Amino acid sequence: MYKIAMLGHQGAGKGTQAELLSKKFGIPVIAPGDMYRREIELGTELGKMAQGYVDQGKLAPDELTNEIVKLRLEQPDCAKGFILDGFPRRINQLAIMEKLQELTHVFDIEINDEEAVRRLSGRRVCSKCGATYHVESKPSKKEGICDACGGRVETRKDDTPEAIRERLDIYHRETRPVIAFYKEKGIVHEINGDQSIESVHADIMKVL
Ligand code: AP5
Repeated sequence: MYKIAMLGHQGAGKGTQAELLSKKFGIPVIAPGDMYRREIELGTELGKMAQGYVDQGKLAPDELTNEIVKLRLEQPDCAKGFILDGFPRRINQLAIMEKLQELTHVFDIEINDEEAVRRLSGRRVCSKCGATYHVESKPSKKEGICDACGGRVETRKDDTPEAIRERLDIYHRETRPVIAFYKEKGIVHEINGDQSIESVHADIMKVL
């Protein structure tokens, strides 16, 4: 059974690759970022609590994130495996994760900071179903319209230069130590993210 965490650089393609694996293996993606964006869109209490953090590229409080991930992992569809996209991202989250589930694979997808900025600046996301596009590498067939659901395709609020910088800082400062912990356990697989989406996927599939 696959219990995977995608933990690479921002913009490295964690979400893109998580979706491909989800389709291949029929297991769910658990992405706190997507969950928060959905709650913000719906205007729920949770969304209101998280909005300031998410829009500025800061990590939401651990007590919120740990709880939503814990509840999601308890859902029946996670019984045959799951893919975490962007969790655990700092040491307090790692401590909770260790109590919840034993991961089988951690993928550390790497690109450099310049490429991350280029990708995130060109990213467009469907406001309805969350499908991800890129103006150069993966444009939607009709500009501004989602291929999958016909929803509006737009720039993510945290894909501004300031918020991208903040997210990259957090990654270097807080997420690298989490990856180091899993490296010690021997379950980290480093993947070169600086290749086509298909080649990154092929490298991940070789490991799995
Ligand atoms: P989250 O949604 O997780 O965003 P992120 O970590 O900043 O990661 P990204 O989605 O930016 O990058 P990605 O690697 O998934 O790239 P993608 O596949 O889209 O988190 C957002 C916010 O939510 C956080 O800032 C925080 O506030 C909150 N949050 C999330 N997790 C949290 C946690 N654990 N604790 C607390 N708060 C949390 O690809 C990027 C672009 O590149 C796309 O346009 C794509 O089409 C393109 N692309 C992908 N692969 C390739 C390729 N190989 N070649 C060319 N282009 C490519």
